[in-house]
Amino acid sequence: MSKISDAAFKGVCDYFFRISGIRLTEGKRALVLSRLHRLSQDCGFPDLNEFIARLTRGQLGEDVAVAVVDRLTTNETYFFREPAHFADLRQRAQGHRAGEEFSVWSAASSTGEEAYSCAMLLADTLGKAPWRIWGTDLSTTVVAAARTGLYPVDRIENMPENYLKRYCLRGEGPYEGQMLIDRSLRQRVEFLGANLTQDLPQRLPMFDVIFLRNVLIYFEPPAKADIVRRVITRLKPDGLLYTGHAESLSGLDLPLQSIAPAIYRHD
Ligand SMILES: C[S@@+](CC[C@H](N)C(=O)[O-])C[C@H]1O[C@@H](n2cnc3c(N)ncnc32)[C@H](O)[C@@H]1O
Repeated sequence: MSKISDAAFKGVCDYFFRISGIRLTEGKRALVLSRLHRLSQDCGFPDLNEFIARLTRGQLGEDVAVAVVDRLTTNETYFFREPAHFADLRQRAQGHRAGEEFSVWSAASSTGEEAYSCAMLLADTLGKAPWRIWGTDLSTTVVAAARTGLYPVDRIENMPENYLKRYCLRGEGPYEGQMLIDRSLRQRVEFLGANLTQDLPQRLPMFDVIFLRNVLIYFEPPAKADIVRRVITRLKPDGLLYTGHAESLSGLDLPLQSIAPAIYRHD
């Protein structure tokens, strides 16, 4: 594997920061090398430093730029991650005014497990009453994966058994080893590309609950505050914001009131 020079590392970090708002630290050098090495080869550059130089000069085209961002984002996620939020979501949904659409946004949805976990819970709690889920992410690759609703069966670890039976179809033949989220749920979940550091898509409605989890951790405090301020413009007056339990909003001077661990309401 080719080495990455100091100049190339700085170049790609600055490039990624401009696009995503995420500052990669020196500790991420090996990760950057391993994630971009293959892409550079596939694009016809045996020398990664040359690849990065061309990239940062804007000489490689939009598809390569998108592929670089996809490689450098961290997309780890799983179904029913941080279960306390799902217990809270159930309560909110149950207390929701009948007839009005209950809407949830998984901001930074990665491959969609968070959004589909919400969909299972709302299908169970609200049934055929109006509800809708939106998922957005910076990475186009994960957005495309989320839209398929298709997952390896080993992803189902935290999924309640009855949800597995009711909302997931086990693959057979060429789909052996995979499971598909039931169509009735997929129809109520929409995934879009969106960069949380920029203007949000006009189509996003106002939400009862917004999941903004395990993404703020990658940002410096000013960028973090900026993202939260932008995201909460889409909260309904009584809406709630859920953040990752490892993510702190303290000291950011935000118009939010903490009502439970990692759960906030607009002031
Ligand atoms: C670790 S995953 C979190 C997934 C899920 N929310 C969870 O808690 O399991 C972080 C996601 O944030 C996305 N992301 C990073 N920077 C972003 C940005 N500026 N705008 C939107 N999404 C971003 C990444 O592409 C990645 O899919």
